[in-house]
Amino acid sequence: EPVPLEMHKVRIVQKLNLPPVERRLEKMTEAGNNTFLLRNDDIFLDMLTDSGVNAMSDRQQAAMMVADDSYAGSATYSRLEHQLRDIFGMHYFLPTHQGRACEHILAKVLVSPGKAVPMNYHFTTTKAHITLQGGVVEELVSDAGLEVVSVNPFKGNMDIGKLRATIEKYGPEGIAFVRMESGTNLIGGQPFSLQNLADVSNVCKENGIPLVLDASLLADNLYFNKTREEHCKSLSIREITRRTADLCDVIYFSARKLGCARGGGICVRDQALFEKMRPLVPLYEGFLTYGGMSVREMEALAVGLEETMDEEMINQGPQFIAYMVDQLQERGVPVITPAGGLGCHVDAGRFIDHIPQAQYPAGALAAALYIASGIRGMERGTLSEQREPDGREIFANMELVRLAMPRRVFTLSQVKYAVDRLAWLYDNRKLIGGLQFIEEPEVLRFFYGRLKPV
Ligand code: F0G
Repeated sequence: EPVPLEMHKVRIVQKLNLPPVERRLEKMTEAGNNTFLLRNDDIFLDMLTDSGVNAMSDRQQAAMMVADDSYAGSATYSRLEHQLRDIFGMHYFLPTHQGRACEHILAKVLVSPGKAVPMNYHFTTTKAHITLQGGVVEELVSDAGLEVVSVNPFKGNMDIGKLRATIEKYGPEGIAFVRMESGTNLIGGQPFSLQNLADVSNVCKENGIPLVLDASLLADNLYFNKTREEHCKSLSIREITRRTADLCDVIYFSARKLGCARGGGICVRDQALFEKMRPLVPLYEGFLTYGGMSVREMEALAVGLEETMDEEMINQGPQFIAYMVDQLQERGVPVITPAGGLGCHVDAGRFIDHIPQAQYPAGALAAALYIASGIRGMERGTLSEQREPDGREIFANMELVRLAMPRRVFTLSQVKYAVDRLAWLYDNRKLIGGLQFIEEPEVLRFFYGRLKPV
């Protein structure tokens, strides 16, 4: 059995607490059975997300000490801009405070009522911003993307036939842009192939439609291109990155994931489009040379982007996730396969098939796992969907509990603890009951909605 090997050593540590089970039950109840509302003091392993909680390198920390503070035109900003140009080969850059701010700007400039945005799969904040502008999200992920158990290495691929049909349906002028998401988040951190991106790009070019890449989870996608796609095996990560970027018109990202830092930004090839988006940065984010990021964040990001080009830096997440997925499968716990990036995704639909979708099985499992282990995961199922304008509930394609793997943060023994507790909970799954809302926010309800047992 191969064991993942860390190509780093740990030199700063943080003490953890493991509160007793009685206290965990009390805290989960106080948090309205929503893991977002727990406090970190009450958590043993925080696997809620890999956003803004990845470990930084010594070089990132060092760069933060030499940041150049200035409202306008700091040397730090120039270093970041230079790094992005070097990696992606796009001339223009707009800094933002995080990924969803990029989505806000892109939606405001490119989306108008009735326009469609075809994508391999939506992300929560992406969809919210597009629909707020009156746009329509068209999910065109390949059929394999929605198969929970699969051996398909690229479940994040877009179905090219569906893309052509969608363009036919709306007409090219009815499409705001086509969006591809690397390491497709909501279907289990599943990658697309470089070949698929090339095919999507060709269709976009034929129809004069801009192609936008959400590169938040690009590091994982690059690793999978390199290890799973034959023609990428001989390419360096830097070469795969450039080939990816060359196929796109816009690349935006959450630097809370990409580059192990904070912040975000939009890289643009076309000057006219850049000039349309530019006024929104000082309006909503901050001046054009920081966009809501601190100089320390920008320094860490510039170094983090460079480190993303190193396969031995970006392989830790996917390898730990693959280990966790394999171990859970051996114990019969239903998980998404093949292992993707971001984290290990437990299939709550099969884990607790006695709870109907209307009672949020994935939410119920996330709450139960915290009580059983002190581990915080995230619901990624019906709770994370938004209702139709008429109030109808939309059942998610998959009911998942995501156990994110913040990069270089947990040890293998901690991963083994998570596997052991999940296996215990699976054997005792009849203890878990459904949930119902007691407070349901209208937008992005999963963030701060509160629930109680049915
Ligand atoms: N796009 C993708 C693919 C993401 O995963 C995220 C964030 C965003 C955009 C928004 O970026 O948080 O910086 O505003 N994903 C986090 C997660 C929240 O936990 O999966 P943001």
